[in-house]
Amino acid sequence: MGNRKIFIGGNWKMNKGAGESLQFLDRVIKGIKADKYLMEAIPQRMTAVIFPQAANLFPMYETLKEYPLISLGVQNIHWENSGAFTGENSIAASLESGAGFALVGHSERRHIFGETDEVIGRKFRSCLGNGLKPVLCVGETGSERSRGNTETVIAHQVGSVLTDALENGKINELVIAYEPVWAIGTGNNATASDARECCSLIRETLCRIAGPESAENAYILYGGSVKSSNARIYLQEDGIDGLLVGGASLDPEEFLKILLTSLF
Ligand code: PGA
Repeated sequence: MGNRKIFIGGNWKMNKGAGESLQFLDRVIKGIKADKYLMEAIPQRMTAVIFPQAANLFPMYETLKEYPLISLGVQNIHWENSGAFTGENSIAASLESGAGFALVGHSERRHIFGETDEVIGRKFRSCLGNGLKPVLCVGETGSERSRGNTETVIAHQVGSVLTDALENGKINELVIAYEPVWAIGTGNNATASDARECCSLIRETLCRIAGPESAENAYILYGGSVKSSNARIYLQEDGIDGLLVGGASLDPEEFLKILLTSLF
């Protein structure tokens, strides 16, 4: 993993109101402050990012100003700067509310809300152009895997978005999460070697499109039923730089355990 920081994302999806979000932060910050090791290691070696519902970003940001141990991300943005797009989050408003990152192409956006590679590409490009770091999520469905199409699907998802983004010229410190759809929210996590193979395929695709430096600097994450008891098996693999955690990131005790186990 070299000197790269470990990236731990907590995707809260459509869970937690403002009160519960602040209680979570209170518990996690107390937990970190009570542990000398975590207190030192997190700022030096980890990028921890929580993706709450957009309405909770600002109150969380206000709390975190005092404790910059955890960063914030928005779960979804629109590619246009502003306008008549009822229900969407603009990048500018997300930045102002304290988000530094945005999830783009999460499987729930692809499969429940019908986002295409083209839409995902626009969002990704717009993030890069406006100072919000996109976390691009890719991954095959169960039936794509059983038909032997995993590699083609992943290479296509990464390729279509990045080739587009390259026209914009900027491509640095990318974050890409490999999240097999069949592993999300199912308790059926990928094996460490399957995750390693797909993460290395992502890095190869990146290298082909964006060159070796971009590929080397990118953070490639695994996500899909990660919890404190399996987090380390992925981080021990070469080429897996972090984790994107859904369900297990909602519980402050479990989230603290994931932070701790990821740093060893
Ligand atoms: P999960 O979700 O950890 O609950 O499987 C991961 C994700 O959707 O990012």
